[in-house]
Amino acid sequence: MDEIKEEVQPTEVVALVTGSRRGIGLGIAKALATGGFNIVLNGISPPSGAEEAIEKIRSTGCRAEYIQSDISVRADREKLVAKIDGQFGRLDILVNNAGVAPHVRLDILEATEESFDRLININLKGPYFLTQAVANWMIEQKIDDQHRNCKIINISSINAYTASTSRGEYCVSKAGLSMMTALFASRLAEYGIGVYEIRPGIIETDMTVPVKEKYDQLISEGLTPIKRWGTPEDVGRAVLAIAKDYLPFSTGEVINVDGGFHMKTL
Ligand SMILES: NC(=O)c1ccc[n+]([C@@H]2O[C@H](COP(=O)([O-])OP(=O)(O)OC[C@H]3O[C@@H](n4cnc5c(N)ncnc54)[C@H](OP(=O)(O)O)[C@@H]3O)[C@@H](O)[C@H]2O)c1
Repeated sequence: MDEIKEEVQPTEVVALVTGSRRGIGLGIAKALATGGFNIVLNGISPPSGAEEAIEKIRSTGCRAEYIQSDISVRADREKLVAKIDGQFGRLDILVNNAGVAPHVRLDILEATEESFDRLININLKGPYFLTQAVANWMIEQKIDDQHRNCKIINISSINAYTASTSRGEYCVSKAGLSMMTALFASRLAEYGIGVYEIRPGIIETDMTVPVKEKYDQLISEGLTPIKRWGTPEDVGRAVLAIAKDYLPFSTGEVINVDGGFHMKTL
């Protein structure tokens, strides 16, 4: 998938993309920059390795700042939101993208409580309470200016509904994100804040390196109607459409970015 080429018109609007030092998050950040959004990049590691991405976004004329923060830790989340307020004074778009796979894929009859806790903390509890904090801030911003376009976008997975018994904790965390989308969409509709879920399928990133050969084979055999790996740009384009308010009468909506994997065929 080619990178999006649009003439960028920098604006005041600010988007936070968690887990955007690499992978899908970076694809989302780059796509949003083409739409004129100033970007807060985030990861758990120091910014080294993200300089090129930061410079690329800045070269469009948009602002890009990297804030290191572990979204599973309450104090880190509070500092993240406070820093964005200090540096930008506003937040229009939150993309809950940061997430991890189990260190080891283990059958649910053997998988450990430690891995379950790790995945729930990073993939579900972190985004849940980050969203709570940001939603309260967005409500204040909307009360000050009802024309502000505030959106929250959760990156779940086809594993929100596809059972993979060798990573049950991942599936449970992503199914939880689906309910979280419905909950915040219901609660925030009265303030005009849209909440959406994007379900990526098999996307080529560091996360899928260990299963590359297996999925190469499955895709070639027809696992997905569109016979190719997805890319971070594919997900970025879907996020950009939501952030640009091209789905104004939708909330709690699920968008599959999966090459058609979700369809049942006969
Ligand atoms: N790849 C796929 O096929 C696929 C499919 C469906 C859904 N997804 C979902 O898409 C999202 C991105 O996946 P990906 O494939 O791009 O993964 P990735 O390449 O492994 O990148 C994960 C990103 O999340 C960050 N991160 C991890 N733990 C964090 C924490 N506690 N706090 C803040 N940031 C943290 C990492 O930071 P560092 O760079 O600092 O390590 C990294 O930037 C995940 O939620 C994943 O579950 C992926």
